[in-house]
Amino acid sequence: MIRVNQLSYTYPTGNTPAIHEMDFQVQAGEIFGFLGPSGAGKSTTQMVLIGLLKGYGGQVEIDDRELSSIHSDYYESIGVAFEFPNLYLKLSALENLRFFKDLYRGETENPEELLEIVGLAADANKKVGEFSKGMKMRLNFVRAFLNKPSLVFLDEPTSGLDPTNAKTVKEFILMKKREGATIFLTTHNMHDADDLCDRVGFIVDGQLRIIDSPRNLKLDHGKKRVRVEYRTNGSLDRTEFDLASLGREPSFQELLQSGKIETIHSLEATLEEVFIEVTGRRLA
Ligand SMILES: Nc1ncnc2c1ncn2[C@@H]1O[C@H](COP(=O)(O)OP(=O)(O)OP(=O)(O)O)[C@@H](O)[C@H]1O
Ligand SMILES: [Mg+2]
Repeated sequence: MIRVNQLSYTYPTGNTPAIHEMDFQVQAGEIFGFLGPSGAGKSTTQMVLIGLLKGYGGQVEIDDRELSSIHSDYYESIGVAFEFPNLYLKLSALENLRFFKDLYRGETENPEELLEIVGLAADANKKVGEFSKGMKMRLNFVRAFLNKPSLVFLDEPTSGLDPTNAKTVKEFILMKKREGATIFLTTHNMHDADDLCDRVGFIVDGQLRIIDSPRNLKLDHGKKRVRVEYRTNGSLDRTEFDLASLGREPSFQELLQSGKIETIHSLEATLEEVFIEVTGRRLA
């Protein structure tokens, strides 16, 4: 769906490249994530892929066509939610969606239904200027799906949302994937990357350091052990066992049968730990 080869971009005012010699591919139907700290180059990469930053180095192919040769029909088939909502503040939520809907030639979603999905039905007729940050983010988010896009770019889709609304947004993204959409998203939230992405690329200082599924990354960098917490005579104890020999471990069997176990966890790494190990940097 997307094939990127040696992609670099330097802002006209910048001394150093904001992104540098990136190689990656996004398969049709997958959720591909860019995970990295502030200033890493996530939004810049998205802006290049969307066609808004010209003069990049390297190749970008979308559906086997070089991006620089794609014309405005590209915007009929993609959806975009920018990091900072760009909405008409004097129009209501519904008027905003209707306005953008009319810009598309093809089939579109029903704006009322989209507002309902992200919990904005009751505020449909309120001016967006009176919206909270989270409300604007949700409106900006659903707007990206108005034209039933097959390729969607989401920049920090859960940023500024409370846990309930973040969950709604994530469930919506997963539903669109099930319906066949390809989704490219950026985040500095490792839980989002973990919950949503089929594959994730770690980006720091404009460079991609590693690409793999969150599961592989966590397994490759964690300990192949389990930690068992149990209580004896009111005091909490914990022991670790090798995962591979767990079934043959007499003391584990004994603990299992004792009925004293409170928790059992395998000790794979968290995505954040992998990030620090691979890049030497923190996400926040
Ligand atoms: N319009 C611009 N002009 C010049 N430099 C820019 C511009 N936008 C971004 N940059 C620079 O490019 C680099 C990458 O920025 P970018 O916005 O892509 O980071 P990001 O990963 O999206 O960060 P965040 O998580 O804060 O959104 C930074 O060094 C930033 O200062
Ligand atoms: Mg950004």
